[in-house]
Amino acid sequence: MKNQKYAYGRTILYADDKAEVILIEWPPGARSAAHDHGTSHGMIRVLEGVVYCDNFSKKAKQFTSHLVGRKGDILFETPDIIHIMGNNSETERALAVHIYTPPLTMKIYADSELKRV
Ligand SMILES: [Fe+2]
Repeated sequence: MKNQKYAYGRTILYADDKAEVILIEWPPGARSAAHDHGTSHGMIRVLEGVVYCDNFSKKAKQFTSHLVGRKGDILFETPDIIHIMGNNSETERALAVHIYTPPLTMKIYADSELKRV
């Protein structure tokens, strides 16, 4: 972590058997493990700061896109992707609300399983 002013935070705002809404605080330099989203479709609305998503196809584990989301942007997560999400800022946190339906189940992947070229 590049800045200890902020800490990774994950707060479940709502959950039932159909959907889950999670507020995630991404401190400067934070990065998720590579993961999929099970059978869930997800939508991320950036509330503050800038986040990035490096997406890979789940089937081939091949890099497909690098997306950047700024305040107000909406990014989508589909069941056919693996991604790494993070905040590249050295000073500013990012805050995003994540909505998943059905509720999120994840599988974690080692970076070495993913192909960038
Ligand atoms: Fe994700």
